[in-house]
Amino acid sequence: MYLMLKFVCYVALFFSVFNSSFGQAQQTQNNPDVTVEGEKLFQRCLQCHGEESRINFLEKDQLEYFLNPSDVEQGEIWYLTNNNQMPLDRPFTKEEKEIFNRWIKEVLAKKFQN
Ligand code: HEC
Repeated sequence: MYLMLKFVCYVALFFSVFNSSFGQAQQTQNNPDVTVEGEKLFQRCLQCHGEESRINFLEKDQLEYFLNPSDVEQGEIWYLTNNNQMPLDRPFTKEEKEIFNRWIKEVLAKKFQN
C-alpha cells in the first residue's frame, strides 16, 4: 500500500513538472517578444545593407523607400523576404518570416508615422 502511494506521488510529480515546463515553452513560442526578435532578424539585413553598402537601411530615406511604411505588404522588403530572396545568404524560415512580418507592421512601419 505504501509503495503504491509512493508510486502515485512520483507520477503526479512527474506530470506537474512536465506540464509546467511544457506550458512555458508553448507560451514563449506563441508569444515571442516581437520587438526583440524582429530587431535580431533585421541585424541580418544590416550585415549586407549597413554603413558601407550601396543599399543602406541605416539611411532613413532608403529604408522608407524599400519598406513602403504606409502599405508594407506592397513594399520591396516584404516581397523579397516572403519570397525567399532576402536575406540573400540564408532566407528566413517560416517562423522567422512570421516574426519579421509582425515586426515590420507593428514596430518598424510605426517609426515612419508621425
Ligand atoms: C548576404 C548579403 C545580404 C543579406 C544578408 C541581405 N541582402 Fe538584400 N541584397 C544583397 C545584395 C547583394 C543585393 C543586390 C543589390 C546591391 O546591394 O547591390 C541586395 C538587394 C536588396 C534590395 C534591393 C532590391 C532591388 O530592388 O534592387 C532589398 C530591398 C534588400 N536587398 C533587402 C534585404 C532585406 C530586407 C534583408 C534582410 C531580411 C536583406 N536584404 C539581407 C545582399 C544581402
